Amino acid sequence: MGIWSKKSIAQLQGEEGQTHELHRTLTGLHLILLGIGAIIGAGIFVVTGTAAAQHAGPAILLSFVLAGVGCLFAGLCYAEFAAMIPVAGSAYTYGYATLGELVAWIIGWDLMLEYLFASSTVAVGWSGYLTAFLRDYLHLQLPPALTSAPFDVAPGSHLPHATGALVNLPAALLVAVLTGLLVVGIHESARLNNIIVFLKVGVVLLVIGFGAFYVRPENWTPFIPENTGTFGHFGWSGILSGAGVIFFAYIGFDAVSTAAQETRNPQKDLPVGILGSLAVCTVLYMLMALVMTGVAHYSTLNVPEPVYVAIAQAGPALSWLRPIISLGAISGLASVVLVLLMGQPRIFYAMARDGLLPPFFGQVHPRFRTPYVSTLITGVVAMVVAGLFPIGLLGELVSIGTLFAFVVVCAGILVLRYRRPELPRPFRTPFVPVVPVLGILTCGSLMLGLGVATWLRLGAWMALGLVIYFVYGRKHSRVGHGDTTPAAPPPPDLGGPL
Ligand code: ALA
Repeated sequence: MGIWSKKSIAQLQGEEGQTHELHRTLTGLHLILLGIGAIIGAGIFVVTGTAAAQHAGPAILLSFVLAGVGCLFAGLCYAEFAAMIPVAGSAYTYGYATLGELVAWIIGWDLMLEYLFASSTVAVGWSGYLTAFLRDYLHLQLPPALTSAPFDVAPGSHLPHATGALVNLPAALLVAVLTGLLVVGIHESARLNNIIVFLKVGVVLLVIGFGAFYVRPENWTPFIPENTGTFGHFGWSGILSGAGVIFFAYIGFDAVSTAAQETRNPQKDLPVGILGSLAVCTVLYMLMALVMTGVAHYSTLNVPEPVYVAIAQAGPALSWLRPIISLGAISGLASVVLVLLMGQPRIFYAMARDGLLPPFFGQVHPRFRTPYVSTLITGVVAMVVAGLFPIGLLGELVSIGTLFAFVVVCAGILVLRYRRPELPRPFRTPFVPVVPVLGILTCGSLMLGLGVATWLRLGAWMALGLVIYFVYGRKHSRVGHGDTTPAAPPPPDLGGPL
């Protein structure tokens, strides 16, 4: 018992059984669209530019391949868990079933980096495109002091420096408005999601298709700029660091694996959805990276709106494309922020239900039927973070946190295959133990590519989490105190499993 206590799979399934009477309607194609909708966001629209300028140059192309491979292995492991334990809480719940309460808490705490901090990161990206759009098309110049973070961290340095700005107001306001919508209960509209997916993909295809004619091959030489003497600053180590940084662009594909229970034929459709959305995004990302670093020199892309800036360098012939890029990024990024803000309360809910967080985290609004307390807590923290922190710092923290969760998920597959081989698995990760081991190795090396400062921040975040666990969670845990009855199912408005 205690920190190693586990939830039984039957107990987990009992907790969800009543809410998820299966509507097995989703096909492989639906899952591919779902995945692309969750994946494409600030990663490609913002981080590609900054990562090329600071880490890899045109070789950011190879960084995308490396990060895509890591996601592929991790995605196949996620799918086995998701099909076996299709319940709210995602990797947190998988951890509870396999590796025990302490590890589950660590993953749950770590997942805040993936959802809560990622929503702030994408909101900061959104702010960059909105500011450029208002400036260039509505001649409305927002004061720079109100559109960027008050401090930044130079590449290679660990210490922040003041930028002279006060707050990133548009980013904070976006989070506030979306949080308000989530409190009163907005339902993910499949139709709106599809429209935004087509818009986002359409913009990416237009940039690739038209930008390709304005590529100047001299911008691609040297393809791998020489390392400056600092690890991760160009050269081969820069490709690895770049992969760690742009890993952010792939986050979200785990949404596919968690739709397992609504999928017609999980064994076939889940891999189609995961591999399909990853393949589409990897190809789009690679082509986009080639075009961006071909049209504009990589050193000019360290800006809040790099796709827009790159196309501007193609000259007046493509000026019609710039407002389309702005509108695609503004609507597409806002939808990603919404999905991420919606995901975090589900994890809080699962943790509160298990007694690891105070019960008010699971409180449901009497009228709106939404988990409004955890939504508000998520919104306020995400708003402050979005207003104060620069995108580079946030993106790296989100990447390292998610990579860590993926490593634990891959390890969990190995543990469970060995300890509980008899459990029914609607989807089985292929080539075990090769795939999970490769997942651990690839995601682990991507983590190593991220700088010392990012590791220290992850360490500080985890240390804070451990203090909270030992002060609160351990004493209040239901499972830790031998309560093995299934907890009440989540409220209807918490939606399907994360
Ligand atoms: N993959 C998501 C994005 O790039 C988080 O915005």
